[in-house]
Amino acid sequence: MFTIKQNRCSRSSGIGVHVGPEYAAAILIGQWMFGLYILAQFTMPWMLGVMDESQFTHMIRGYKNGEIFNNAVLLLHVIPVMLISLSATFQLVPYIRNRYPRFHRWNGRLFLLVGFLGAISGIYMTWGIGSRLSDVGAIGVTLNGILIPIFVLYAWRTAVNKQFMLHRRFAVHAFILINGVWSVRLYLMAWYMINQGPLGNTSKIDGPADIAISFASYLLPMAIAELAFWAERRRQSLTTFFAALGVSIMALLTLVGVFAASTMMWIPRITTAF
Ligand code: HEM
Repeated sequence: MFTIKQNRCSRSSGIGVHVGPEYAAAILIGQWMFGLYILAQFTMPWMLGVMDESQFTHMIRGYKNGEIFNNAVLLLHVIPVMLISLSATFQLVPYIRNRYPRFHRWNGRLFLLVGFLGAISGIYMTWGIGSRLSDVGAIGVTLNGILIPIFVLYAWRTAVNKQFMLHRRFAVHAFILINGVWSVRLYLMAWYMINQGPLGNTSKIDGPADIAISFASYLLPMAIAELAFWAERRRQSLTTFFAALGVSIMALLTLVGVFAASTMMWIPRITTAF
């Protein structure tokens, strides 16, 4: 997901963590696929006033005819994600951060706000109205939802206080956490593709592979990001080598995941909706 190279950013020095163009492209394609899926599955039917629970049978609970409040929570949870899926990746591109700071600030505010509200509404749907297949299977996403507001708060505060090195660190973690549910889909579909079907997965998403993926979707990239930040501070060749190795593995996983989730999940659903 990230590459390590000489940092030319005016607000930091030395070796820096950057998203390489090829990985940024993979993330961008995967995020736009997700956004397009939301457009086809939720935004368009909602705008056209043709939503019906029969269109959401693939979901855990989904849309229920007549349940005005819970449907509103679901739509508020999902539709704004379409906007951040289209724009969040630009936050990672140093050229855009340095050249268009105003865009970076407003795009960042939108991203953190949507992520914060998504975490609260997600926890409500999971534990408040029973949108979960099993208790054990929902623990990973719940921890993800608890960590989002914490990292959003710190990413925001460090930006306001102009602590840019700290801000970069918290913002990267907020990006990973808010995209945790996106990564779950990438890793799960990659797992299915590599194993040619489920292996350690159950229909209730509480098999060993399901549980491992639900935590790994954010803890693994967060750990690799911390390794890269540590290597940046240490400036020692062996540490940098291991950080670069970890980052490259993450990039490969992202590429495979974007391909698997797009071909197995999003493209079929988008084409059916159109
Ligand atoms: C802030 C980051 C999040 C984003 C971007 C996000 C995105 C989404 C999307 C796109 C859907 C529609 C799923 C589909 O059609 O397949 C969805 C549904 C849902 N999400 Fe999230 N989500 C986030 C956080 C969370 C969290 C933290 C939780 C739980 C703790 C959660 C729980 C749910 C639930 C329960 C549903 C409805 C499931 C159903 O009824 O089938 N989400 N989310």
